[in-house]
Amino acid sequence: MKNTKLSLNSKVAFFSTQAYDKVFFEKYNTDFGFEFDFFETQLNEQTVKLISNTDVVCVFVNDVVNASVIKELAERKVKIIALRCAGFNNVDLETAKKMGIRVCRVPAYSPQAVAEHAMAMILTLNRKTHKAYNRVREQNFSLNGLLGFDLHGKTVGIIGTGNIGKAFAKIVTGFGCKVLAFDIVTNIEMEEEGVTFVPLENIFKESDIISLHCPLNEKTKYIIDEKSLSLMKNNVMIINTSRGALIQTSDVIQALKQGKVGYLGIDVYEQEEKLFFKDHSEDIIQDDAIQRLMSFPNVLVTAHQAFFTDEALTQIALVTFNNIESLLAQNDIDNKAALLA
Ligand code: NAI
Repeated sequence: MKNTKLSLNSKVAFFSTQAYDKVFFEKYNTDFGFEFDFFETQLNEQTVKLISNTDVVCVFVNDVVNASVIKELAERKVKIIALRCAGFNNVDLETAKKMGIRVCRVPAYSPQAVAEHAMAMILTLNRKTHKAYNRVREQNFSLNGLLGFDLHGKTVGIIGTGNIGKAFAKIVTGFGCKVLAFDIVTNIEMEEEGVTFVPLENIFKESDIISLHCPLNEKTKYIIDEKSLSLMKNNVMIINTSRGALIQTSDVIQALKQGKVGYLGIDVYEQEEKLFFKDHSEDIIQDDAIQRLMSFPNVLVTAHQAFFTDEALTQIALVTFNNIESLLAQNDIDNKAALLA
C-alpha cells in the first residue's frame, strides 16, 4: 500500500468517533498529514451543522447520510464522503451523485475478523462457554445445562459468499461441516473447495446453522422472516454479523418462543443506532424488542464488534486515508472502494 505525503492539508471531519478511532487514525496520519475534527456525535440532520471548512466527512455504519444530510453537506462544500466501513446501506448514493459528492468505502479491511467473530458466536451459543465461565467462578462445577453438539458433520448454510462469506466458509469447512451457500453469483473457486451452491430455499430447509453474510438491500431486507423461518429445521441456529434489518425481529422473537430457532447470535440489530457503541448501563432502555431478545438464554447479542480487531482498524485507517488522498488528487481508486468516484 502506498503511503505518499499529502501536499494538500485537507481537513477530515469524523462522526461517531470512538477513542479507538482517534488512536488508529492519528497513528497512521503521520504518512498523510490530514487535519482532523473528531465529533463523537452521529452525523444526522442536526449535527451536519457542525461542519465548517471541511472537504471530507468520514462516517461509520450508523451515521445518517440521507438526502437531506447530503444536500446540507453539498451546501457546506463537502467534496467527499469517506465511509470507514464496508456496508453503505446508510448512504443515499443517488443524491450524492446529483450533488457531485464523491463517496468511497473500505471494501475489505479484514474479512477474517468478521468471519472469526461469527464462529466465536457459534461456539459460544453451542458450548455455552459464557455460562461455564461464570459458573466455575462461583464454584459451581456442574455440567447440567451446558450440553452442546458436535459441529463436525453439521450442515452450515451461508447467505452471501463475498469476502466475509468466503472466509467463513473456510473456517466451517475446517470444522468438518457440510457447507451450503447461496449468492446471486456462484463462486466456482468455492465449489472446487467443497462448498455446494443451492437455491435459497434449500439453505433454509437443510441447514443446522445459517450465517448471514450478504449486504442489506431491497432484496435482502427481512430475508429472515416468518416465511423463511417456517421452512427451517426445528432448533436451527441463526447468526447475523451483517446488518440488523436482514432479520425481521418480531418474527424471530416468535420463532424463539416456539422453539423453532434454538440459537440466535446477532452482532447487528435493526434499531442498533440508538444503542450500540455507547454505555447505556444506567439508562432505562426503551427498546422492548432488544430487551426481549436479551432475555432469552439461547440468544447472544454483541454490539457490532465483529470488525473490531487490531488488523482491521489498521486497514480501515490506511485504506480510508489512501481513498481520500486519491480522490482529492483526482486519481482513480480501487473499483470496490469507489462507490462514486
Ligand atoms: P462483499 O461485497 O464482499 O460480499 C457480499 C456478497 O453478498 C456478494 O458476494 C454479493 O453477490 C452477495 N449478495 C448480494 N445480494 C445478495 C442477495 N440478494 N442474496 C445473496 N447474496 C447476495 O461484502 P463483505 O465484505 O463480505 O461484507 C458482507 C456484509 O457484512 C457487509 O455488507 C456488511 O453489511 C457486513 N459487515 C459487518 C461487519 C461487522 O462488524 N459486523 C463488518 C464488515 C461488514
